[in-house]
Amino acid sequence: MNPAFRTRPWGRRGERLSGEFQRLPPDRRLFRLLGLVGRSLDFTFRLRPRLGRPNVVDVRGIRALSLPQVFNPAWFVTSPILIDVIAALRIPPASHVLELCCGTGVGAIALVRAGVRSVTAVDINPIAVHCARINIRRNRATSHIRLLQGDLYHPVEDARFDWIIANPPYLDGHPRTWLERAFLGGRKGEVLSRIVEGLDRHLCPGGRAVLTYSTVAPSGRIEALVQGVGFRIVKVINHDLGFEVVSHFVIARG
Ligand SMILES: C[S@@+](CC[C@H](N)C(=O)[O-])C[C@H]1O[C@@H](n2cnc3c(N)ncnc32)[C@H](O)[C@@H]1O
Repeated sequence: MNPAFRTRPWGRRGERLSGEFQRLPPDRRLFRLLGLVGRSLDFTFRLRPRLGRPNVVDVRGIRALSLPQVFNPAWFVTSPILIDVIAALRIPPASHVLELCCGTGVGAIALVRAGVRSVTAVDINPIAVHCARINIRRNRATSHIRLLQGDLYHPVEDARFDWIIANPPYLDGHPRTWLERAFLGGRKGEVLSRIVEGLDRHLCPGGRAVLTYSTVAPSGRIEALVQGVGFRIVKVINHDLGFEVVSHFVIARG
């Protein structure tokens, strides 16, 4: 089953319908539900048979190897959107950037393509890190990216960065496989909350964080977490896909 659907983002028997979904006009609700069904069918019939095979994909001009048990950046909309957002952010080249949850490394490679000279990329999944290592080399970005395997901020110890970027797993649920870790961020969204809680310790003064989130995830969570650590959301970049809105929250100190 598509991990995105195992958690029933629309709620158990409807009682946990997200507030955002409830606020939609009825025609948009239908559109969104049809989109979710379409995505599920697409996953079942087109993508699932290819899950067990290595794939070389092209995402916004970045060629990337993706192995089984790794989040394939060509199959899910959030990776190309992240790459577009990175290009639009105009991050100064001298910035030190941390990409958490880097997966196959396409975000880190996009940062280097955007001119950033110092990127640290972290993922917990050793198979993803293996892919990222190959992809970074093939895309000639090795001299600008330090790639580390581990749990969120753990591999960077006390280091601080000008920018922290992450497309994290934002659905609720306990992952049982490496692939599920790409989608399920703990029963109460612990991965996202640990990322936000670490911002104070790991962002330089004046630094910014950019986090991917979506309307298929519990609504209002990111706003509450950011407020809870005394930071503020300075901008939200929305990509309305009709059946889902993918948002990038730009976060700064309060
Ligand atoms: C949605 S995927 C995004 C991958 C990549 N950034 C992209 O956009 O294609 C989320 C990634 O987060 C990683 N991840 C999940 N929990 C993590 C943790 N505690 N520490 C580091 N990485 C984690 C997963 O292994 C997965 O590669």
